[in-house]
Amino acid sequence: MDARVTAHRRYTIADIDKRLYGSFLEHLGRAIYTGIYEPGHPTADGNGMRKDVIDLVREIDTPICRYPGGNFVSAYNWEDGIGPKEDRPTRLDLAWHTSESNEVGIHEFAEWAEAANTEMMLAVNLGSRGLDEARAFLEYVNHPGGSYWSDLRKKNGRADPWDVKVWCLGNEMDGPWQVGHKSAEEYGHLANETAKAMRAFDKNLELIVCGSSSAQMPTYPQWESTVLDATYDNVDFISLHMYFANHEKNTAEYLAIPERLDKYIGTVSGVIDYIKGKKRSKKDVKISFDEWNVWYHSNEQDKKILQGQSGWPHAPALLEDIYNFEDVLQVGCALNTFIRRADRVKIACIAQLVNVIAPIMTSEGGAAWRQTIYWPFMFASRYGRGTALQLDVDVPSYDADIASDVKYLDIAGTYDDDAGSMTFFAVNRHPTEALETSVSLEGFAAAKSVEHTLVKHDDLEAVNTEDNPDNVSPTEGSGAKLDGNKLSMTLPPYSYSMIRVK
Ligand code: AHR
Repeated sequence: MDARVTAHRRYTIADIDKRLYGSFLEHLGRAIYTGIYEPGHPTADGNGMRKDVIDLVREIDTPICRYPGGNFVSAYNWEDGIGPKEDRPTRLDLAWHTSESNEVGIHEFAEWAEAANTEMMLAVNLGSRGLDEARAFLEYVNHPGGSYWSDLRKKNGRADPWDVKVWCLGNEMDGPWQVGHKSAEEYGHLANETAKAMRAFDKNLELIVCGSSSAQMPTYPQWESTVLDATYDNVDFISLHMYFANHEKNTAEYLAIPERLDKYIGTVSGVIDYIKGKKRSKKDVKISFDEWNVWYHSNEQDKKILQGQSGWPHAPALLEDIYNFEDVLQVGCALNTFIRRADRVKIACIAQLVNVIAPIMTSEGGAAWRQTIYWPFMFASRYGRGTALQLDVDVPSYDADIASDVKYLDIAGTYDDDAGSMTFFAVNRHPTEALETSVSLEGFAAAKSVEHTLVKHDDLEAVNTEDNPDNVSPTEGSGAKLDGNKLSMTLPPYSYSMIRVK
């Protein structure tokens, strides 16, 4: 099957905000405890953080990491996680029915973030708490000194403020499962007042108001409209969340889900424009897609853990999806969607980063390894920088139940002016046919070299495990060629490719 693509230097979508490759760590399951933090581990640093995990996070190059939740944040007291560890209280976490030891709090996380070379993106609790707690947390984290909370931070060992720029105003406040769930009107009012107070401290903060938990919520997209109407002048982003599942084991349907993701972004963009127009505003609120990933493999196991669980365990193995090769294709298409929507989506966070629906897995006392989805994320994060290109793509398509006209080739292209390179991320969604792909490169300086990296496995169900961590991993692709301004390559059936041209 043939695919013809045209890329033109002047046909661009937007500059890509590097935070498109953000991530998320929640106090949930083994994300923190035995994930990033395990003081007794052979690789643990002075902060009790696993160096083997830090190395993998540095390699994946995620520029920002959301913390501490998620549902967890809606009943979290951040003050429980400061001061001497032996004095910190153990609390019941109402979101996940577990115990929280508070051994890791803002100081430990901040040190980890620095070691992992990622910026912090913090969430305040607007579920069980509100404005007052948010302003105290902000003062603790960002004020240099000379006030109650900033001096307490100093006393607790951190002289300089962390100067965190990006703050989430609660989490999934539209969800009935959320501790302190609110109506759109209630939440809009609280979020706006909290944003005003936080801005009174620092007008340059970047504030994210909660959109819907998914496009399936009964209040979507009215929620976005009501909440933005209440907050538009005081926030910078609205959040979107979406998880992908293939319960029916229908690959064609599964790989069509990114079309739905694209429509979701389109609809919320429309709501933003509507409120912007209604308010005669000059400002553009952007999208923070701060939870997205495949999430379904662990559902049955989680039911058993939660049903069989007595008491409030500390760090049980919740949401431990083991990803397969099929998920590489899905994650590749999702990332391509974000690149193609780089004009509206400025932050996106894969949910999550370690152990909990994550690209990185650990065993307690043992190894850390890369799940299959680590690869498309790492390639996009490291090389999908610069400017997103508006590609013209001519390729046959198929009709799925959830979307029509799903192109067999899902492709995104970026141009990095500084590096003088172009990168294409391509997923062949065809089960049996290779795509003979030609890309016409218009208006770029003559390219000299091309590299093709391929992730392909004959078994869609293939996984990486502690014993076989490289089962699904990249190889050199064969046959990408440059002939003048014509790039051509063969993309095998059901495969993920990165093609770099310099
Ligand atoms: O990422 C797992 C959970 O999914 C988060 O805690 C919540 O925000 C979402 O429902």
